[in-house]
Amino acid sequence: MNPIKNPFSPGAGAPPPELVGRDAILEQARILLGRVKIKRPEKSMLLTGLRGVGKTVLLNEIERLAKDDGYHTIVIEAHENKPLGPLIAPYFRSLLFELDRIAGAGDKAKRGLRVLRSFLGALKISYNDITIGLDVDPEQGSADSGDLEIDLPNLFVALAEAAEERQTAIAVLIDELQYFSQKELGALIMAMHKVQQRQLPLVLLGAGLPILPGMAGESKSYAERLFSFPDIGALTEEESAKALRDPALAADVDFDEMALEEVYRLTKGYPYFLQEWGYQSWNLAPTNSITLQVVQNATATVIPRLDLNFFRVRFDRLTPGEKHFLRAIAELGPGAHRTGDIADKLGVKVTSLGPVRAKLIKKGMVYSPAHGDMAFTVPLFDEFMIRAIPEFHPK
Ligand SMILES: Nc1ncnc2c1ncn2[C@@H]1O[C@H](COP(=O)(O)OP(=O)(O)OP(=O)(O)O)[C@@H](O)[C@H]1O
Ligand SMILES: [Mg+2]
Repeated sequence: MNPIKNPFSPGAGAPPPELVGRDAILEQARILLGRVKIKRPEKSMLLTGLRGVGKTVLLNEIERLAKDDGYHTIVIEAHENKPLGPLIAPYFRSLLFELDRIAGAGDKAKRGLRVLRSFLGALKISYNDITIGLDVDPEQGSADSGDLEIDLPNLFVALAEAAEERQTAIAVLIDELQYFSQKELGALIMAMHKVQQRQLPLVLLGAGLPILPGMAGESKSYAERLFSFPDIGALTEEESAKALRDPALAADVDFDEMALEEVYRLTKGYPYFLQEWGYQSWNLAPTNSITLQVVQNATATVIPRLDLNFFRVRFDRLTPGEKHFLRAIAELGPGAHRTGDIADKLGVKVTSLGPVRAKLIKKGMVYSPAHGDMAFTVPLFDEFMIRAIPEFHPK
């Protein structure tokens, strides 16, 4: 069928034609935004889930809700090797300028800029491009201790007070939170703690891999009282069918039952895969009825495409030792596996696996769903590993 009219949207953060199965989470976000705006206490939300389940799409949707509700928003994406301070500073600067331009009495936005200046001074890194236009004097002693766990909370409070003075609210949205270090995450938690204690109109909405709640809890034991960690998972069979059928029907195209069952069997309801199968099935369909045969033809196109893009980019970042470890997990089949069983497969002692395991968690490839267990963060990665390395030999 006409590829130009294809409604499906496989891609990182690409909004799906229909955001299926996320009403409860969006309702929770709506309540959170409503409460913070009137300075009522509410836990901040950190969405967690595997790769490709739709965290970024949800975060963007929540940003839209926040804007509709009159919030000023900033959207940040954490990176593997980029420190938090220099990452957020330009966003804080723009926002403080924005607040300063809103008419009203008081000078808290200007004070915020001075606090930001002192925060940057304490980072002791090159920050020339960030300070452009920031020709204010630093506010001595405000966020310049050099200890992020002290300085970041002060910066957040200064920003939130500026928003309060201008009778507005701020939503800070951060994607890929697991890339921050323990120390940075700790500082962020402390910042939100201070903001909440003072009942200021600033909310944090984040997203990250399933290792996030553990990282947060390890960093600050009170994290669970400040944050909720909604689990964003695969869609149910019914939701998966809706995600494919509704956008197609809007263009007078129908998926038949067996076609839908086959897509669910292959994708297990993972949103990114649903979009891929939907997209290829549409393009390959000779008529406006998508049959099992069409889906089977699409599978022959989708699997190599996934292998080349979605899976391969992750695979290529691994060392041979890491690949071997992951291949051993794949050998054990889908789902989570005991570290002891992985060690047995590899023919080594459990204790020797510590370093490779830690590196793979850092790279966001695996996580521990329960103590002593390991699982892939990328859905269906086990099947890919077997395609990529067909034969497994313990060393
Ligand atoms: N509720 C949904 N229904 C249907 N499709 C969805 C849904 N949510 C997301 N998608 C689709 O899934 C794909 C992945 O979404 P997104 O990039 O938001 O995932 P993610 O969880 O952020 O992944 P990653 O961890 O790799 O960043 C996109 O193609 C998007 O259109
Ligand atoms: Mg994402």
